[in-house]
Amino acid sequence: MASAIALFYYHLLVFVITLLVPAIAQVNTNVSVGSALFATDDNSTWTSPSGDFSFGFRRLPGQQDQFLLAIWFAKIPDKTIVWSANGRYPAERESKVELNTAGQLVLIAPSGWELWRSNNNENHQVSNGAMLDTGNFVITSKNSSIIWNSFDEPTNTMLPTQVLGFARSLLSTMSEKSFGVGKFQLRFRQQNISNSSYDLILNQIAVYTQNTYGAYYTEHNVSELIMDKSGYLLVKNSLGAISNLSSEGEVLRTESDSYYRATLDFDALPPPVTVALFCIPGLKQLDDEIILDEHLD
Ligand SMILES: *[C@@H]1O[C@H](CO)[C@@H](O)[C@H](O)[C@H]1NC(C)=O
Ligand SMILES: *[C@@H]1O[C@H](CO)[C@@H](O)[C@H](O)[C@H]1NC(C)=O
Ligand SMILES: *[C@@H]1O[C@H](CO)[C@@H](O)[C@H](O)[C@H]1NC(C)=O
Ligand SMILES: *[C@@H]1O[C@H](CO)[C@@H](O)[C@H](O)[C@H]1NC(C)=O
Ligand SMILES: *[C@@H]1O[C@H](CO)[C@@H](O)[C@H](O)[C@H]1NC(C)=O
Ligand SMILES: *[C@@H]1O[C@H](CO)[C@@H](O)[C@H](O)[C@H]1NC(C)=O
Ligand SMILES: *[C@@H]1O[C@H](CO)[C@@H](O)[C@H](O)[C@H]1NC(C)=O
Repeated sequence: MASAIALFYYHLLVFVITLLVPAIAQVNTNVSVGSALFATDDNSTWTSPSGDFSFGFRRLPGQQDQFLLAIWFAKIPDKTIVWSANGRYPAERESKVELNTAGQLVLIAPSGWELWRSNNNENHQVSNGAMLDTGNFVITSKNSSIIWNSFDEPTNTMLPTQVLGFARSLLSTMSEKSFGVGKFQLRFRQQNISNSSYDLILNQIAVYTQNTYGAYYTEHNVSELIMDKSGYLLVKNSLGAISNLSSEGEVLRTESDSYYRATLDFDALPPPVTVALFCIPGLKQLDDEIILDEHLD
């Protein structure tokens, strides 16, 4: 079991990013109906009140005129992306995302071609959109109920307070620079068609056919995967009991303000036989990655 969990962590990397940038007070940044952002180089964004997260267009690495609609950590130099809308269909320059009067975010290319739309039903009671300090972009109705939120349409990353329910999954990207669907999937699989018990599984997918291969990690009887506000991963079972997937040492702790994220990695799966050998080095490597890639001096 311990090695299975280590394997899980080998693929669902939990990162901690120490933040040494002073907090900058910002005014209210709510997004009103009809507001839009354009895929240009002016870098305009919808940013959370604390400035920690931004929503907007990012130029794809190495591409002059192709953009990704995304949410990212706005205060760290890497501007690590934690969510994206159109990984499969890059948006060309001058594409537009708008919060429409039906309470949906719609991403449209200059030709009028629709590249993406938030997966909520039309709701004309929409009040506003908001990039929250949790990293969740929410659309709320006039009675304050949530019409849509990016936490419920995740890509490859979970953030603290985010819950992955049985209808959701995480998909790895193709690479660090290519945001299309990659080889790995974290999802729920119904155990038995006549009851509502689910297994949380990790499996590979065939990139071209999208066929799924057998599970290489299984956690039984799970109804939710939760990342708590301290960065620990918890599972809730079908009876509502919560248990801890994280153990001490798997999430690097720091004294100062930190960001956490759990990302389904795109790296190749080690051959099954050697998996066990990789478990602990995999976790150690995680610390290295934090220090090399994410830690601020
Ligand atoms: C901004 O939006 C959030 C979430 O929809 C809401 O709770 C808050 O009241 C809004 N603030 C203002 C000033 O409208
Ligand atoms: C937007 O960001 C890009 C890349 O960081 C930079 O080259 C460009 O100068 C920025 N544009 C503005 C208007 O700040
Ligand atoms: C808020 O409005 C939505 C429709 O926009 C409705 O489905 C929901 O029940 C309402 N919630 C409350 C608490 O009134
Ligand atoms: C649902 O089916 C699974 C697999 O057959 C079984 O292990 C589990 O106990 C069942 N759950 C309930 C609540 O009957
Ligand atoms: C599926 O679940 C039902 C209801 O909980 C149970 O009676 C049945 O034995 C389960 N089937 C299998 C193959 O476990
Ligand atoms: C799953 O939960 C059911 C109760 O909901 C329990 O009867 C069953 O033994 C559990 N199965 C496993 C594999 O833990
Ligand atoms: C999960 O485990 C960590 C580390 O052992 C602990 O600090 C945390 O309180 C645990 N959370 C829950 C809900 O048990």
